[in-house]
Amino acid sequence: MKNRIHFFDTTLRDGEQSPGCSMTHHEKLALAHSLADLGVDILEAGFAIASDGDFAAISAIAEDVRGPKIASLARARREDIERAARAVEKAKRPRIHVFLASSDIHLEYKLKIDREEALDQAANMVALARTYVDDVEFSPEDATRTDREFLCQFVGAAIASGATTINLPDTVGYATPEDYAAMFRTVQERVPGADRVILSTHCHNDLGLAVANTLAAVAAGARQVECTINGIGERAGNAALEEIAAALRVRADVYPYEHNLKMERLYPVSRQLAGTISFGPAPNKAVVGGNAFAHEAGIHQHGVLSNPLTYEIMTPVSVGVPANRMVLGKHSGRHALRSRLETLGYRLSTADLDIAYRAFTELADRKKAIYDQDLINLVAHHRRHEDLIATEKVS
Ligand code: KIV
Ligand code: ZN
Repeated sequence: MKNRIHFFDTTLRDGEQSPGCSMTHHEKLALAHSLADLGVDILEAGFAIASDGDFAAISAIAEDVRGPKIASLARARREDIERAARAVEKAKRPRIHVFLASSDIHLEYKLKIDREEALDQAANMVALARTYVDDVEFSPEDATRTDREFLCQFVGAAIASGATTINLPDTVGYATPEDYAAMFRTVQERVPGADRVILSTHCHNDLGLAVANTLAAVAAGARQVECTINGIGERAGNAALEEIAAALRVRADVYPYEHNLKMERLYPVSRQLAGTISFGPAPNKAVVGGNAFAHEAGIHQHGVLSNPLTYEIMTPVSVGVPANRMVLGKHSGRHALRSRLETLGYRLSTADLDIAYRAFTELADRKKAIYDQDLINLVAHHRRHEDLIATEKVS
């Protein structure tokens, strides 16, 4: 299916390996089940050789979680591949994800090998992984800073050795949408066999471009997207799964692709992750941030109360957020105040609403946010002083 996008979730691997994100065995298993319910196609459960804990978590996920393919990461080394193979052996559809750096800076300073040696190592280790599983992904690490000619050779060698998915990571978040897309086009044009494999994106967010780069690559032919819930991951994080999914849904006119995600599961999974690790998404984070569907400015509140589409490009419910949130503050108008008072059970005449609104704006000048209890106190205060005449409890 040419227009099907495969979501590869790496929250439990690239996400978990970043500061403040470590998870216990049970937390990983619980999240893996939720990611399966969300409908991810491939779940990278960890890096089997990294620790006994990682190995145990991958094995448990492989045994317990049904739906997605279960992957373990492995360096292009025999011992890593053997350990990854053992970790995923109970999975119904196991995958080994082999990676080896391809940029000169990584080859020279990190691996201390030359291009020829890297080429042999990639080919031999992909072939080894294929002796364990039919589904092998290969990633030339730091692909975006790799000489294009060599990248094509490298990827060609991995395909010839049996790789079924080729991932082109922007490991250091250096790419722009134009050059990331161009790299995918080059690989498809120049590498024999590229049409037989799935091409994959893997973007880091150092320049805040991870999602834009991912979408640019999709438009250029990539059909697997690697991403994490809430965009957690190394340094500035990985491309956020919920943002890619929302962009594909809201801008289906530009991105006419299908996928398997249950959109209304996005927010619950985001909350689950936030409750598991040591931080949640920033309030202004797209799709799942606390303010993503909140409106404080009076003009916006009036618009949204009349028709949510005035200021919302998707409904909160469509991504699992219970409802849009009218935040009452000094920018709020009468419409929002009336609506909130009605929700709280008070129906006010226009004259009384004026009195309540004056009292509300005085309070809002002193307080940053106005909570329901403040409004209840405000109504009660004015009733006691009999200047708020006809408040009526709505049943
Ligand atoms: O960012 C990266 O290059 C990675 C690889 C292991 C795929 O996470
Ligand atoms: Zn990464």
